[in-house]
Amino acid sequence: MLKGGIKLEINSERVKREIENLSSFNSTPGKGVTRLSFSKEDNGAKKYLKTQMKKAGLEVYEDGYGSLFGRLDGENNDLPTVMIGSHYDTVINGGPFDGVVGIVAGIEIARVLQENNFKLNYPLEIAAFNDEEGIRFGKGISNSRVLTGDMEEEELDKRIDNSGKSLRDAMIECGIKPDLKSSKRKPGSIKSYLELHIEQGPILSNKKKQIGLVETILGYNIMEIKFRGKSGHAGTTSMDIRKDALVVAARFILSANDIVRGAGQGAVGTVGQMEIRPNASNVIPEYVKLTLDLRADKQTTINKINHLIEEELDSIGNDKGIEVEMKRILSIPPVDMSKDNLEILIQKSEELGLDYEMMNSGAAHDAMVMSRLAPSSLIFVPSVNGLSHHPEEWTEYEDIVKGIELMLQMTCEICK
Ligand code: GLV
Ligand code: MN
Ligand code: MN
Repeated sequence: MLKGGIKLEINSERVKREIENLSSFNSTPGKGVTRLSFSKEDNGAKKYLKTQMKKAGLEVYEDGYGSLFGRLDGENNDLPTVMIGSHYDTVINGGPFDGVVGIVAGIEIARVLQENNFKLNYPLEIAAFNDEEGIRFGKGISNSRVLTGDMEEEELDKRIDNSGKSLRDAMIECGIKPDLKSSKRKPGSIKSYLELHIEQGPILSNKKKQIGLVETILGYNIMEIKFRGKSGHAGTTSMDIRKDALVVAARFILSANDIVRGAGQGAVGTVGQMEIRPNASNVIPEYVKLTLDLRADKQTTINKINHLIEEELDSIGNDKGIEVEMKRILSIPPVDMSKDNLEILIQKSEELGLDYEMMNSGAAHDAMVMSRLAPSSLIFVPSVNGLSHHPEEWTEYEDIVKGIELMLQMTCEICK
């Protein structure tokens, strides 16, 4: 790639090696990649990333949430930084690319710039986040929420994992002294946030496109719903007097599915997590807790679905004498990526001869939070068969390299 007469080349072997090495920090070898936040595997991956950042000549530091940053000075270090980042935590039995691609891309860009003595005017910061998925503590996109000041102190104590451990205690176990206040970034301190990610859906692969330029990230909502009935003997309690929390929860799941389907294209809803108590074959379930993950491209659609869900919860509970409680865990409206950055990305994609697609992102990303702080961009590379959050998630390395080339061009352009 030519930039100001200098050829800047991405080293695909290095990129591949780093992505493969990161997969080894994994609690489920042979069954996809599992690397939950603030775990042993998280610590291992962070240590590896730190080493790679240092080897790449970056100044490395961690904030009070344990986010890892590597900084490359620019010509003028009083200017705001350009941040390239993504996450390295995974879902349970996930794939090797979700998240890490964006971090490895940032490190590679910093390396290539230095190898070519190409100094940017602006300082560059590579960010590695460890709690985007929210699997362990149920909320996610946390590191970016800390940077924007959107995480409350009480979340550290209220978010509890399956073993009853709080987020704060898990952080302390990892050697982090939680300090949200000092981790907040000032408005204007970041010039742009850039994230390269696998698409995790089938659009690019079906259309045989090389790059996705994201215009809007779908609104992201998580609700936690509790159903409380009454336990009793499965053999002696007649069907007409039961207060079975699971039967009501099951009805709700089907109704929620219908409601979201009825809202049309652009809306998706998933009940992906459920807890049943006492969870015994011969006891009527007295308690069910489930989550509803709801996403849509328009806030009006989200509002409409929310209204129907609330109505359904009211009527379903009253009908069966089951107590229903609903709590909103996360409500982020649909977010547009920076239009100015998109114009540059279109121009750079054309200069590089990349076949690109303008698209929306159904998946949530740190870029949606970071856009509160800085103009943000999200670039996709194709996922083979659109598969992600699955052990067989795959993206061809040559496609990843194309994405990094575009990121590099973008970085050079906005750091001029
Ligand atoms: C985060 O990766 C999500 O979209 O679930
Ligand atoms: Mn994911
Ligand atoms: Mn991701």
